[in-house]
This record gives sequence, structure tokens and C-alpha cells, in this order.
Amino acid sequence: MSLVIFSNVHKIQPWIDALKDAGPDVEVISYEQIQDREKVQFALAWNHPKGIFKNYPNLKCISSMGAGVDHIMNDPDIPGQTKIVRIIDPLLSQDLAEFALSLIMSHMRGLGKYFHLQNKKVWKKSMYKRIADLKVGIMGTGAIGNHVALFLQSCGFSVAGWGKNPGKHTEYRRFHGYDQLDEFLCNINILICLLPLTPETEGILDKHTLQKLPQGAYVINLGRGLHIIDQDLIEMIDKGHLAGAGLDVFEHEPLPAEHPFWSHPGIQITPHVASLTTPASVAPQIIENYRRAVNDQDLLNLVNRDQGY
Ligand code: GLV
Repeated sequence: MSLVIFSNVHKIQPWIDALKDAGPDVEVISYEQIQDREKVQFALAWNHPKGIFKNYPNLKCISSMGAGVDHIMNDPDIPGQTKIVRIIDPLLSQDLAEFALSLIMSHMRGLGKYFHLQNKKVWKKSMYKRIADLKVGIMGTGAIGNHVALFLQSCGFSVAGWGKNPGKHTEYRRFHGYDQLDEFLCNINILICLLPLTPETEGILDKHTLQKLPQGAYVINLGRGLHIIDQDLIEMIDKGHLAGAGLDVFEHEPLPAEHPFWSHPGIQITPHVASLTTPASVAPQIIENYRRAVNDQDLLNLVNRDQGY
């Protein structure tokens, strides 16, 4: 029995090393080394070759290598009995929180603008915003969104959250459901999207949603590129309704060279680096889930396949 890595994206060796440290008795191999597909019970995946899992009739569990599972859920050929689990890691959540803070501070103090001016050797001051002036709204208040909300609150921001369902967190104002979306949006100066990507949340940041934000709001997308309708975002910035956006995720990654985001003066893009999984930090929970899966025990961080997260 082996833990099999299905990924053509990540460098595999650091994962194999971390998994061997966390579970020295567990055989860890790449899917290209599999001899007998019937014996595979546990897969660790990131952007796996689509359709491949239908060839593994005894697969009990697929673990994402990261927090998101949309790259697994969008494969129609996952066997019906196979459970899907995701990574919930304090390091990943904190990395996201720190990245969100960096983008907010850069926007508040106009650092992107000064960088452009530096390139042109222009000395030009402008007024900035303060933490006490801004309300931050987090869309997606699961494990990661809640952590980001509490972190930003501890930095002094006024924070609100919006999620699909009523949550249990009471430390900040929390809205839920589409009925409360407008009320949530109308008071937000900085909107951070941390939603999981599901058929319901795809395209949620379209012009109808974005125009509910107050004039001059700034949008940060750390969820998935497909949450935003790119053209609508550009239109709302060009019209002056939004001050700009910080985007770390895109429909197609790498972002194609001809995409207008690259050269838009109001948009700061980064190459999906808000949080990068550290294999040593997450290997223990993957090994634990491997042991639980092969022994038919309850799994950690189980995804509801109907909900998609
Ligand atoms: C990153 O995007 C992740 O899903 O962990």
C-alpha cells in the first residue's frame, strides 16, 4: 500500500522527503511509478491529469496539496465512493493574512504609485489613508477567512465577514446569505475574497456585486480567478467606482501575456503567492489522513462533495 502523489506542477522531492519524515513506514511514490492501480487507496493531488482517477477502483481518499479543492472537484471522473480532504494549516492561513495586510497597506500608503513615480524620477506627495479610516470585508469566513478577519482586526481594522451560512464566530460582525450581501458590501472600503470556488460562487464578483461597494473601494482577490468577472472589474475601476484591485489568482495561470490586467494602472498582480504550502508543515496531517483512510476511520478536513468545499 502506498501514498501516491498525482501532480505535474509541484517539485515532488520536497514532498516525498517531508512525508517520509512524518511517516517513515509509509511508502510514498509518484503516480508514474505505480505498478498495480488496484492497490492504490490514497492520493495526494495538485492539478492531476484530468480523468486519471477513474482508473483507480479502490481509491478511498484524495487529499489536496493545498487549501483549495476546486482542482479536484472540477474533474467529473472522481469515483463516487472516494472522499476528498483538504489542507487546513495555521501557516497557510497566517501567510494569507500577512499577504492581505501587505496589499492593504500598499494600497493605503500608495506604494504602487510611488514605485511608478520612482521609475520616472518624479517626486510627488499625496495624502494617505489610515487603518482607523477603513472597514475591511472578508467574503468567505471558513477556517482561513476567519483567521484573516481576526488577524486584521488585531491590527486595528474594523472587520466584517460574509459567508453562505450563519457562522459561529462572534468576534466581528458577520453577514450571511445573499439576502445580506448588499448590507455587507455597502459599508466596505476593502473587500477581500477568500471564498471557495463552487458553481455558486463562480463569477460572484461581477459588476452587480462590485457596484454595491462604496465609491473608492479596493478589491483583493485571494480566492480563485473565476470568482471575478475580469471585464466587469476593469470597467468599475475605469469608471472610477473602484480605486483599484490587488489580484493574486486568475482564471488562467500563468496570466496570459495579452491579458489587460498586466498593464492596468489600477491593478496590482502577483503570481499566486499569497500562501505557498510548506510540505513539512502539512505532511503530518496528510500522513494522519492516509492512516485513517486505509483503516476506514473518519478523516480530517473532509470536503462535502455536494457543497464543493
Ligand atoms: C492555494 O491556492 C491553495 O489552495 O492552497
